[in-house]
Amino acid sequence: MARCSVLLFGLWWSVAALCLCLCPAQKTYFPPTLNISLDEDPELRWNPLLTVFDTDFLKKAAAEIIDSTVPKWVHHAVAPVVKVLDLFIPQPYAGEIRGLASHFGGSLSDIIILNFAYEMTAFCTSIVAQDTKGNIYHGRNLDYPHNILRNLTINVIFQKNGVVLYQGTTFAGYIGLWTAQSPNKFTVSGDQRGSEHWRNWWKNAVSALLLRRSPVSWLVRETMEVAEDFKDAVMRLSKIPIITGVYYIVGGVRAGEGVVITRDRKGPADIWPLEPVNGEWFRVETNYDHWRPPPEMDHRREMANKALNATGQVNINMDTLYQVLSLFPVCNGITVYTTTMSAAHPQRFTSRVRPQDCRPT
Ligand SMILES: *[C@@H]1O[C@H](CO)[C@@H](O)[C@H](O)[C@H]1NC(C)=O
Ligand SMILES: *[C@@H]1O[C@H](CO)[C@@H](O)[C@H](O)[C@H]1NC(C)=O
Ligand SMILES: *[C@@H]1O[C@H](CO)[C@@H](O)[C@H](O)[C@H]1NC(C)=O
Repeated sequence: MARCSVLLFGLWWSVAALCLCLCPAQKTYFPPTLNISLDEDPELRWNPLLTVFDTDFLKKAAAEIIDSTVPKWVHHAVAPVVKVLDLFIPQPYAGEIRGLASHFGGSLSDIIILNFAYEMTAFCTSIVAQDTKGNIYHGRNLDYPHNILRNLTINVIFQKNGVVLYQGTTFAGYIGLWTAQSPNKFTVSGDQRGSEHWRNWWKNAVSALLLRRSPVSWLVRETMEVAEDFKDAVMRLSKIPIITGVYYIVGGVRAGEGVVITRDRKGPADIWPLEPVNGEWFRVETNYDHWRPPPEMDHRREMANKALNATGQVNINMDTLYQVLSLFPVCNGITVYTTTMSAAHPQRFTSRVRPQDCRPT
């Protein structure tokens, strides 16, 4: 919905309210699930997308996102350059992007732009929490001002040799992961840090490719592929250079294994672990450094903190976490999906697409 895409940083509730009035009521639903085999050629492995979507729809959706996210002049200026940059994208991503381009109507530069367009504009809330028995729960809302992303939301199960290696929730056409789980090891969510993306997104993209730095969502995928455990994941997500700052929220399988990593491009700016022995049994991260107050008009952090306090460590579980993530304005008119997960119980990974129903009560 084009009206939603004029949204400016920090002003989304007025826009969200507008959407509530203009958009038809919908229901919360579970997105479709795809199996992607990592044993397949990267150019072919996303073919299962076509069991869920048709090419026409994918093509239209991509055009809508690109037209409303990327200014026309940038798109025109960038198209020829992007073709050359294809040389700089590492495998398997280059192959996957090339394969996806065929599903999205053939434009390689569109798919590259699409992957970088998502990279720059995700608002979010992530929570990691530990109950009194030492179980770790991890939840996230992903906020993004494009209604069409609801229709593109998918669960993806990445398999190797027929075994689940990792899984996540993402958007059709997007190869990175903002929400993911390595079963019985760890879970990760990423939240945008600050608003610099809006000004610098193309600079970031070029620096990514020329300096061979990972987009933040590719590092999540890499970490899913190779990290041995929670500690290893935290190490990688803290240290490996990326194209822009971000918050990585990581949950593990044992008591104490929960952390918010505040990232600069080159390394960690801050590491903020759970400290259950000091009564700090949860961490909430939205889109601001946790040691600074959020902007006055943004009450997501405050609301989540209050609601978790009110819930209490004794009562925290997947369901109560979902309830916290359903409260306005933690959940709001541009919340696309909510995920709750717990790496020690991988089968309980659940994502729900939100129907613009999170409104003030
Ligand atoms: C995915 O693979 C699993 C087996 O690993 C199978 O049970 C399931 O039906 C598959 N799902 C889809 C949507 O193909
Ligand atoms: C997107 O999904 C909603 C809810 O399932 C549906 O009503 C709508 O028609 C879909 N839009 C498109 C463009 O497919
Ligand atoms: C949550 O509870 C703790 C301890 O009771 C208190 O220090 C903190 O201020 C509370 N936070 C909020 C946001 O209510």
